Amino acid sequence: MANFALESNPFNNHISDYMKFFIDTANLDQIREAQNFGILDGVTTNPSLMAKEGISGYDNVIAHYKAICEIVDGDVSAEVIATDYEGMIKEGEALAALHENIVVKIPMIKDGIRAISYFTSKGIRTNCTLVFSAGQALLAAKAGATYVSPFIGRLDDISTDGLDLIESIREIYDNYEFSTEILAASVRHTMHIVNCAQIGADVMTGPLSVILGLLKHPLTDAGLAQFLADHAKTNS
Ligand code: E4P
Repeated sequence: MANFALESNPFNNHISDYMKFFIDTANLDQIREAQNFGILDGVTTNPSLMAKEGISGYDNVIAHYKAICEIVDGDVSAEVIATDYEGMIKEGEALAALHENIVVKIPMIKDGIRAISYFTSKGIRTNCTLVFSAGQALLAAKAGATYVSPFIGRLDDISTDGLDLIESIREIYDNYEFSTEILAASVRHTMHIVNCAQIGADVMTGPLSVILGLLKHPLTDAGLAQFLADHAKTNS
């Protein structure tokens, strides 16, 4: 894996002011908890995550997206099911009309790139999903995608370093000042988040458990216990 030290990484002239944290779930309780935690910038969903919550049928799916948008003051990615150009346009326009924070999630396929290009021309924001190579990320940026979602965990699953892909995309986007934001997806553990921040990913999306994992350190727990014990000795 590459050296992530900021001072030695020539690719860190990226545009975002800070790293955004999205939660990757369709579970309303977890979205509420993340929102109340005070650091949430948005939500990503996909058809598998919707199915996991038992959300099915067009009207229920639409109602669920509206419910998510009511909880979170940030971008909410809603994925199209169609895989043909006309179908993606129809679905995407309906999703975008639901709420100003909806970002239409489009798969990295040929008609998907055409659809992203169309949505870009109409001012509708997009998230290009299922990205596994730098070439795919370049195409998404050329089409004007708002976000590109490289799935780093799924690359790690097949013995390929997902973080190397984030670094390659960072380099390419910075070379040409593409405004497409790198949304590191399929985040599986806390070091994915930390390393993505070191590389300069604009956004990460992960489960609530992984985000909360950033809190943990035994010296914090031991130090707090000691402070409280010492306070109790002189204040009882
Ligand atoms: C991103 O938008 C996807 O919903 C997600 O991150 C996929 O993660 P997984 O590989 O854990 O399913």
